[in-house]
Amino acid sequence: MNVLCKKKIKAYKDYLNENLSKKRYTHSLNVAKVAVELAKEFDGDEDKCYLAGLLHDVSKELDVEKQLDYVNTSQRDVSEVEKNAQPLYHAIAGAEQTKELFEINDEDVLNAIRYHTVARENMSKTEKIIYLSDLVSEDRDYKDVKKMRKLAFSDLDKAMLEALKFSITDSVEKGNTIPQSTLLAYNQYAFMLKQRKE
Ligand SMILES: [Fe+2]
Ligand SMILES: [Fe+2]
Repeated sequence: MNVLCKKKIKAYKDYLNENLSKKRYTHSLNVAKVAVELAKEFDGDEDKCYLAGLLHDVSKELDVEKQLDYVNTSQRDVSEVEKNAQPLYHAIAGAEQTKELFEINDEDVLNAIRYHTVARENMSKTEKIIYLSDLVSEDRDYKDVKKMRKLAFSDLDKAMLEALKFSITDSVEKGNTIPQSTLLAYNQYAFMLKQRKE
């Protein structure tokens, strides 16, 4: 990255440091780090992955009302399920804030932030990498995290299918609603991987 970029990154980090808890700030740095590693592994765009990884949770600790304002005024495609699920607001608000605060207009970076919670059909490499990096960053500590990390570094699509299975099963068990884009993404990976086997 060039000098100007380094200056900008310092400004992004300062903003995150001031507006996120220490734990979430560390998580953001870790997601950016693993996103770059995955980009290297799969010939992705390292700079975009770094940026989207760093900023994916930029709005997570913003007042819920402010997050909802961004959701309601966003020109992006936002489903009714998402409008009624507070934990999902920060991804939409995050894409809007990234554009507004930092003047980042790269749609791939913005979409990677916007879809890091719910996924969607036809995800770009950057989008998949950010979705998975959020699940396998160093600070994550759940039962199958090592397995998931290994899978992410061996096959992005297989890892997406596993991650979506986990997310959908978890939502069903909790009686939560599931955004349509998540189901469409699941169907796409399930279909793709079934075809690969045949
Ligand atoms: Fe998030
Ligand atoms: Fe996150």
